[in-house]
Amino acid sequence: MTIRLAPSILSADFANLGRDIAAVERGGADLIHVDVMDGHFVPNITIGAPVVKAIKRVATVPLDVHLMIDDPDRHLDAFADAGATMLSVHVEVLPHLHRTIGAMKKRGMKAGVVLNPSTPVVSLENVAADVDFVLVMSVNPGFGGQVFIPRSLEKLRAVRTLLTDAGNDAPIAVDGGVDLQTVASVVQAGADILVAGQAIFGQSDPEEATRNLRAIAEKARASRR
Ligand code: DX5
Ligand code: ZN
Repeated sequence: MTIRLAPSILSADFANLGRDIAAVERGGADLIHVDVMDGHFVPNITIGAPVVKAIKRVATVPLDVHLMIDDPDRHLDAFADAGATMLSVHVEVLPHLHRTIGAMKKRGMKAGVVLNPSTPVVSLENVAADVDFVLVMSVNPGFGGQVFIPRSLEKLRAVRTLLTDAGNDAPIAVDGGVDLQTVASVVQAGADILVAGQAIFGQSDPEEATRNLRAIAEKARASRR
């Protein structure tokens, strides 16, 4: 599986999103990661479906929308209509996760499930065959620029084992604290989709930062197997 880089616009200039997205696309971004926060599930409020729709008009790569909200079921249609190609929801807020995954797929989106750092991998066991991707949070969600939690590496490996046992070769994404220092280890541990905010948009040249992060990731990927 090839590595995909998903710059998180949480650290971009919200007054110049089109410009910033174009820069990372020139640098080789495969996806644009969009963090939706409601101020309830996480202690921060960001953006919603109207902004996703606006980004969709200018982005040339698919949108990977990460919902950090209390009641994602209510909003799946809005994000499908807005143009989300990949949508991920947190297992912590979904008592009927199997149904939610089905609803996302029915709307033609790639269905992803997200685990917070304190959420055990076993909570995915009964949907492991159904998911299109798994997102492992390597920081507590809510803010960009936090420090990578080292325990996440073990978790990435455990998710891969769980998916393989279920006969699913779905990609695994990692989100939080991915930078030039941590990227090789997350790729070695099995991450296929790399979300990065500060390490890209927090740099003076996001285009070059995208290229540099990818170069290290590709090298680590080549030595993975
Ligand atoms: C955190 C978000 C992340 C965030 C990552 O809650 O889900 O996508 O943008 O930012 P960095 O890469 O700066 O840790
Ligand atoms: Zn995210």
